[in-house]
Amino acid sequence: MTKRILIDADPGIDDALAILLALASPELNLEGITIVPGNCSSQDGSRNARKVLQLAGASQIPVARGVERPLVQPLVIASETHGPTGLGYAKTPEPTQAEDARHGVDFLIEQAMSAPGEYTLVAIGPLTNLALALRREPRLATAFAQVIHMGGAIHTSGNVTPQAEFNVWCDPHATHMVYHAGLPLTVVPLDVTYQCVLMQKHVDHLLQFKSPVSRFIAGTTRFYIEFHNEYQDIDGCIINDPLALALAFAPELVTCQEIFVDVDIAGGVSMGKTFGYFYKMGQGAPNAQVALAVKPEVFLDLFVDRMEVLCRKYPD
Ligand code: BDR
Ligand code: CA
Repeated sequence: MTKRILIDADPGIDDALAILLALASPELNLEGITIVPGNCSSQDGSRNARKVLQLAGASQIPVARGVERPLVQPLVIASETHGPTGLGYAKTPEPTQAEDARHGVDFLIEQAMSAPGEYTLVAIGPLTNLALALRREPRLATAFAQVIHMGGAIHTSGNVTPQAEFNVWCDPHATHMVYHAGLPLTVVPLDVTYQCVLMQKHVDHLLQFKSPVSRFIAGTTRFYIEFHNEYQDIDGCIINDPLALALAFAPELVTCQEIFVDVDIAGGVSMGKTFGYFYKMGQGAPNAQVALAVKPEVFLDLFVDRMEVLCRKYPD
């Protein structure tokens, strides 16, 4: 049976790759995308999501734009990482699909409450939409089958500050609300995503297949690879969000530990730091399955294989 999923994203280069992975995965039925600002503004993110859906013949999937800024923090976008409008150097036709008329927060609530226990939410951006949805409809806390969040850095360095990972750092207050809400939560931190490096050789393999999908992947990742080279000395690019998405149908890619995870919202140098309680004393009950080990080669093979299937399906 296919899993019903929703994606809450800030598309974003690796968000775009995660959307493509969802569309290429027969185990999943992607039923909607909600947009939050982060890698780019929510207007750009919405346009980018609809461009990506159009590339893979999926413009019937609704895209609902949510909030336009974080709960408390000022809005910051990551144009140095994802390009001025979020998709790097990709040249993609404008979408013909209109945005869904509903606000993203209402959309999340409506979908989840229409089928309690059925949807998996893959949240691959800051958690502002989900935090507001939980305030508006507290029953949401038990309405999802699973919430997978790409975010945080537990034993490893942050990628915005030495302590904080980008999605959490953009809206630490929202993350705090969500992590304390009692959701069936899986956290996918940098500890595992930074082992998943998509390299130029993978992109070159896909470019053998003449398709708008392979050209999109090449254009968008060229910017991302340049960023990782320049700022992090990485030969390739980290595909954080596709790993989180893959866990919706292939949880065996990672090993999780069930712990209590919390977020620093005190406003000092470790603002947005996520920390796990590994000692079984002095903390609340575990609130998340946290991915702490990954099989990077198995995941990268899966990702590239599925992108190849999409490229073959949509030739020039
Ligand atoms: C996360 O932040 C964004 O740059 C990526 O899209 C990913 O969701 C990684 O820290
Ligand atoms: Ca993202």
